[in-house]
Amino acid sequence: MLNFEFKNPTKIIFGKGQIEKLSTELPAHAKVLLLYGGGSIKTNGVYEQVIAALQGFEVVEFGGVPANPEYAVLLKALQIIKDQSITFILAVGGGSVIDGAKFLSAAALYEGDEPWDILSKGIRFEKGLPFASVLTLPATGSEMNSGSVISRAETQEKLSFGGPGMFPVFSILDPQVIQSIPPRQLANGITDAFTHVLEQYMTYPIHARLQDRFAESIMQTLIEVAPLVMANPADYSAAADFMWSCTMALNGLIQKGVPTDWAVHAMGHELTALYGIDHARTLAVIAPSHYRYNFERKKEKLAQYGERVWHITEGTTEEKAEQAIVKTEEFFHSLHIQTKLSAYTDQFENTAEQIEQRFTQRNWLGIGEYKDLKPSDVKKIVEMSY
Ligand code: NZQ
Ligand code: ZN
Repeated sequence: MLNFEFKNPTKIIFGKGQIEKLSTELPAHAKVLLLYGGGSIKTNGVYEQVIAALQGFEVVEFGGVPANPEYAVLLKALQIIKDQSITFILAVGGGSVIDGAKFLSAAALYEGDEPWDILSKGIRFEKGLPFASVLTLPATGSEMNSGSVISRAETQEKLSFGGPGMFPVFSILDPQVIQSIPPRQLANGITDAFTHVLEQYMTYPIHARLQDRFAESIMQTLIEVAPLVMANPADYSAAADFMWSCTMALNGLIQKGVPTDWAVHAMGHELTALYGIDHARTLAVIAPSHYRYNFERKKEKLAQYGERVWHITEGTTEEKAEQAIVKTEEFFHSLHIQTKLSAYTDQFENTAEQIEQRFTQRNWLGIGEYKDLKPSDVKKIVEMSY
């Protein structure tokens, strides 16, 4: 096992009817910016619960944060924070709204002239304006981690930043919120969380038995509950397991003491930036090609995953490893998620070259668990995903 430090300061408040606890969790006298997305909270009862709990607080609302939170929109919210001396940001939504809140938390205290530098330079924030979340979509783990991904339409970029100051103070997770999530977004959430586990697991054996089993148990739970939540999002027991699995998949715990990859996300983000493809779907496109391209280096872990998660008992290490990739593709297909780029756009021909160029320009010259996948490797992986 590798050396590690672990601190996660986010308080989780989990369960039915917990949104009302906002009133006691928010700092007294807070001037709150209530940040939300395109309006789903106005039709599913979440907004009413939040407003009821915010009685007595001074609240300024900012709605309209789009999926893949857009820099230009967030700059308007930043102006409100500054003009109205906001002291606390409350994100009510999925990963996009929570990531938007993280950007605002950082930008509110940032002294540079150009807030985009936070993303382009990947500035690490030790401190931000305090913020919290009411999660409405299990997927990203943003409710209990310190990372944020922001998009900029003007330049077709999608970049991330973070730091120890970017953990939510608290997050409220009521699994009942998933009842109103459309099937497409439920499938995205399952796929995103599943791939988060893969990114922190599908590397090389390091004999961190506990971390491996944490990772395998999260994947097994997602596989078990996926058909249940897809068939009936009102199944509270399945919704609760789904929601907590997504949080546990990316709250820092399973990556401690082990190598991590994250190349699938690095490539996937480019597909969203270029074509607007949903985040989770870009991962389903890249992951199988990435694992096949890096097969020799990942085959032991692929085979272990095949044995323990998919119960593949027959064959050599190589055969189990290949079958495990096929099982993963079938799992995504079972959620109606396509695993080839051509299923999402017919203008994909120069994609690989474009992404290769972008990585070279940004000096991203070595990614993956060995930090040695070059832009030319990225090009080949993306080509394999056409
Ligand atoms: O905007 P509204 O109207 O609220 O609708 C949203 C949105 O259209 C809808 N939705 C959310 N909760 C709902 C609901 N609809 C009905 N009922 C509910 N209860 O779902 C749509 C998608 O929401 P979004 O927040 O965009 O989804 P997700 O949580 O998947 O977040 C995706 C973003 O997170 C980033 C992605 O890149 C992407 O920008 N990621 C953030 C990470 C992190 N911070 O750690 C890690 C991830 O790998 C990921 O990169
Ligand atoms: Zn993700």
